[in-house]
Amino acid sequence: MKTVIIYASVHHGNTKKIVEAIASKNDVAVFDILSKGEINLEEYDCIGIASGIAYGKYYPQMIKFVEENLPGNKKVFFIHTAGSPRENHNSAVKAVAKSGGCECLGTYFCKGFDTYGPFKLIGGIAKGHPDSTEIQGAVDFFDKIVK
Ligand SMILES: Cc1cc2nc3c(=O)[nH]c(=O)nc-3n(C[C@H](O)[C@H](O)[C@H](O)COP(=O)(O)O)c2cc1C
Repeated sequence: MKTVIIYASVHHGNTKKIVEAIASKNDVAVFDILSKGEINLEEYDCIGIASGIAYGKYYPQMIKFVEENLPGNKKVFFIHTAGSPRENHNSAVKAVAKSGGCECLGTYFCKGFDTYGPFKLIGGIAKGHPDSTEIQGAVDFFDKIVK
């Protein structure tokens, strides 16, 4: 299955760490949606959507990118990191994918170092995350759902 993970990781590169760990062990393409590059998602059978969380949702740039570029009827999966992660942080992008007839294979989420707003004053929360166990968890998740 030809697979790509598209990602947005702007705060501390937390989500990028996870995406890179998966890519280092698998034949999977990665694409930073905030780069100037271009990608044709039609070429892939399976598309991973990975993002940090802002105000309870995937970054607005990712939501917009998915709305504009995700083809219908693909297999998709979700990865996110957040200061206080919850599975349903992916609700908005998941709704877009489902409305296009995509099949949702699963979601992986874990803590990511967060120094946004008032948390900066206390040195941030979820310091040291994602840690090696969480990164391995993401690799295992990928093995389970995509391989
Ligand atoms: C503008 C902004 C808003 C955020 N809002 C939330 C939030 O609503 N809930 C949460 O748990 N974390 C929130 N965070 C923390 C990030 O989601 C977290 O640090 C994440 O791991 C960042 O991923 P990245 O380094 O890949 O960009 C926010 C961070 C920023 C910069």
